[in-house]
Amino acid sequence: MISQSSHGRKRPRTRSFTRRVLTAGLVGVLSATGLAGMSGSATASNHTLAEAAASKGLYFGTAVAHNRLSESDYVAVLNREFNSVTHENSLKWESVQPSRGNFTFTNADRVVNHARSQGMSLRGHTLVWHSQLPGWMNNLSAADTRTEMNNHINRVMGQYRGQIHSWDVVNEAFQDGNSGARRSSPFQDKIGNSWIEESFRTARAADGNAKLCYNDYNTDGINAKSNAVYDMVRDFKARGVPIDCVGFQSHFNPQSPVPGNYQQNLQRFADLGVDVQITELDIEGSGAAQADNYRRVIEACLGVSRCTGISVWGVTDKYSWRSGGTPLLFDGNYNKKPAYDAVLQALGGSGGGTNPPPGTGACSVTYEQTDRWGDRFNGRVTVRAGSSAISSWRVNVTVSNGQRISATWNGSPTWDSSGNVMTMRPNGNGNLSAGASTSFGFTVMANGNWSAPSLGSCSVN
Ligand code: G3I
Repeated sequence: MISQSSHGRKRPRTRSFTRRVLTAGLVGVLSATGLAGMSGSATASNHTLAEAAASKGLYFGTAVAHNRLSESDYVAVLNREFNSVTHENSLKWESVQPSRGNFTFTNADRVVNHARSQGMSLRGHTLVWHSQLPGWMNNLSAADTRTEMNNHINRVMGQYRGQIHSWDVVNEAFQDGNSGARRSSPFQDKIGNSWIEESFRTARAADGNAKLCYNDYNTDGINAKSNAVYDMVRDFKARGVPIDCVGFQSHFNPQSPVPGNYQQNLQRFADLGVDVQITELDIEGSGAAQADNYRRVIEACLGVSRCTGISVWGVTDKYSWRSGGTPLLFDGNYNKKPAYDAVLQALGGSGGGTNPPPGTGACSVTYEQTDRWGDRFNGRVTVRAGSSAISSWRVNVTVSNGQRISATWNGSPTWDSSGNVMTMRPNGNGNLSAGASTSFGFTVMANGNWSAPSLGSCSVN
């Protein structure tokens, strides 16, 4: 599942280029802004988060709730933008072993099967954690707690052996604050300090190819808690306890902002000889400030060669565990937020934003193919105003030789002498408020040529 890229990052397998080009060809999204028009076939490979991250040797993942996989908009964005998936809840202990000895993988399988069907890699979250433990785990003897801990690791890792690239073997074992102590849990209280080490040894034996991670929050900067984790990892590496990676959850808000020494902290862990991963990224806020914080996180990961991937903790604000803080990259209607554009740009991607950043032009246009039959296809062009209201717009749509536009709707077309270039203007007035959009459509008789039309830039005169 993991291959080594030329510059040392571990690179999870991503969907094949062929599949991406096919998808791009069918969906056929082109865009052009009022300043710098883009046209041509949609074969560029850095227009989504996953593509842009892959070009840097990283995976770009998200937490997925199994019960959202029946929502088509959710799935469309998931499939388009992400190439790695983490179960938000359905792989946790209470979900897969709600009663002692009874393992149930139905919900977890839904996420695994979806990810595999899309060629996405999987992070495993999580095996041993004090939270979301079923009640029966609280009432065991020390010996039974230890037996069940190892049994759970063996059974769950065995179930998905070879399918999960990285496992959060142990999650959140340290206390907040300055003590540097391990937190109380059935494992800590009954087994003692050795439980973490034992979990990692058991995990290595259960799936020798999976990366074994320690995962925590409030360890993103250099502080007492991250120092305690650092000391543990250093000790494990010195004594040969198997550990391959450290996950930095990276849940940020104004009270807990992206630390100034974030990259430095990632780097010091990497220097111990482990990979680092951003595992549950979300940043409360909105607009430019939120975008800037996301950009800083991406740049920090890119600055550390052993930072192998980034996962955000959910697809859309509306299903976030803290939805009131609107911490994710897509709003509740699956619109890309400024934070999305900032992440894509930081990853070196281009052209992904449907919402043009302020000042990039009076209007922008995107194209998609909406239907296809044996002899023809329908296209739709969406015209979106930039940061100011506009009262008119105009866009050229050029079809290939042999193709012919046979019908149009929601616009007022004129043609050049070749008949290949259609200039579309609005029906009636062209008023659009800042950021607002409208669409027109047309049918192209293919005559055997299924190329997408090329779009000129959007003009307002
Ligand atoms: O599914 C039940 C539903 O049947 C019931 O009616 C409802 C009533 O409260 O609860 C539902 O379960 C909730 C579950 O999410 C699924 O939505 C739980 O109450 C709720 O506690 C649980 O919250 C999850 C939380 O972990 C639990 O600690 C969040 O979704 C999940 O995002 C969050 O994820 C954690 C990571 O695993 C570890 N790091 C921190 C991160 C954020 O807290």
